[in-house]
Amino acid sequence: MAKADASAQSAVAMPDSYSSDTARAILEQGGNAVDAAIAAQFVLAVTLPEAGNIGGGGFMLIQKDGKGDFIDYRETAPSAAHRDMYLDKKGDVITNKSVYGIHASGVPGSVAGMWLAHQKHGSLKWNTLLTPAVKLAENGFIVHPKLASSIERYITRMAKKEVNINFAEHFALAKANTVFKQPELAATLKRIREQGKAGFYEGKTAKIIADFMDEHGGIITQADLKAYQAKSRTPIKADWNGYEVLTSPPPSSGGIAILQWLKMYELIKPSDKLANNSVSYIHLLAEIGKRVFADRAEYLGDPDFYEVPKTELLAMEYLKERSSTITPDKISNTEDIKPGLYESEQTTHFSIVDKWGNAVANTTTINLGFGSGVVVTGAGFLLNDEMDDFSAKPGVMNVFGAIGGKANEIHPHKRMLSSMTPTILLKDNKVKMVTGSPGGTTIISSVYESILNAVEFNMSAEKTVNSPRFHHQLWPKNVIRYHPGLDKQVINALEKMGYSLDERRFGDMHVIINNNGKLDAASEASGRGKAVVF
Ligand code: GLY
Repeated sequence: MAKADASAQSAVAMPDSYSSDTARAILEQGGNAVDAAIAAQFVLAVTLPEAGNIGGGGFMLIQKDGKGDFIDYRETAPSAAHRDMYLDKKGDVITNKSVYGIHASGVPGSVAGMWLAHQKHGSLKWNTLLTPAVKLAENGFIVHPKLASSIERYITRMAKKEVNINFAEHFALAKANTVFKQPELAATLKRIREQGKAGFYEGKTAKIIADFMDEHGGIITQADLKAYQAKSRTPIKADWNGYEVLTSPPPSSGGIAILQWLKMYELIKPSDKLANNSVSYIHLLAEIGKRVFADRAEYLGDPDFYEVPKTELLAMEYLKERSSTITPDKISNTEDIKPGLYESEQTTHFSIVDKWGNAVANTTTINLGFGSGVVVTGAGFLLNDEMDDFSAKPGVMNVFGAIGGKANEIHPHKRMLSSMTPTILLKDNKVKMVTGSPGGTTIISSVYESILNAVEFNMSAEKTVNSPRFHHQLWPKNVIRYHPGLDKQVINALEKMGYSLDERRFGDMHVIINNNGKLDAASEASGRGKAVVF
């Protein structure tokens, strides 16, 4: 490992105070950014049940000792899964089956992902990294009022939907500003602490999960758990605007999408710099978004099952042609935008930089807030509803309004397509920026806009994460979703052009920017995050 300069700073930008304090403590004990990330991931499984997890998956992007690595711990379809498992006899998608309840979950990948990251990059003992989470589960943590109110809202909403979940049995007692203990989760975390990966995928925990599935008609088996493998993949690395963008490869759609977005914007932006969040800026980026999402629906899927045409999708000639039909003042017809090669969102993210200049961008998820709403009784953790990120039927939208086809159809052991896009910007192979966000398909917009905010508009980390963002994804037709705070005149002008504007906040960004060795970190003000430079 490179020698740390005595004055070198570290920084963490995390989705809650418990993960922030833990990541900082691990770095101060001499751990590296990956150690801090592993400890934080397990803490979030205790203190951020909306998205932190051991019952889900994610992606960890690492820049360490000058080299990139990408730990893919995305969930997989169980071996009994099949293409039409969410369709009724008439071939229609069964409402909510892939979203709530026992059938919604893929085989969890988080514990295997952390284990692989530790084996490859960790420097402190595994046991040390698990202990903060064990303590918080066993002794309890103080429930943030924002968590308490999202639990309350979720219980009310689910009761109205009449879905078959046991969420309330486990979480109704988590009241604002009171101590909430999770003894079953503590026991599971102890098994993971003592036995490593096998403490989840084999032995007692695996048996509890498989028996629970069996009892409730689910399909994840002990053999599925034993077979799960996290993978180390080569990150996508591409030049852009004097920087190298290190980002997420498939099964994330996000890396290719943000690069298409950033590169097409370079190609079509006028020579007079556009103002941030002006009508022209939002229109041009929405037009690019139409093309990006048409490609996403057709070409992106698990690379172990489907050959993703990565090189073609990022070729300059292709992007030039693809952006050539964009005009500065007219919306293109949604139905005409086809794939181009011939033819409560939740999740959570954190960013860490250590004193050696290593960085981790980690995005992790159980899909929607509180995942499938199902807690594995006896093991104390929420299961994901990630199966909804597969395409249940060609052309039919999932909860994020994303459509897909063959590339993302269900197949046993296949990883479902993701929008999670942990990304690191490099300058001369040194970390310039660490970024990422939750938010389903809106993640892609949050990430590319954060990069433009920091680089094109030279914003501080605070401004980068809090400046209003917007999102367009081809369907629904000409709808631009946006954050409160966008200029009213801009909104009126976009409506006049023919867009429908939908004010709905998305994402929760945690960003670190390196200004020539001085770190600047921020967590989005609307969340319960905590960023600190030390
Ligand atoms: N579950 C959201 C995503 O992976 O994109």
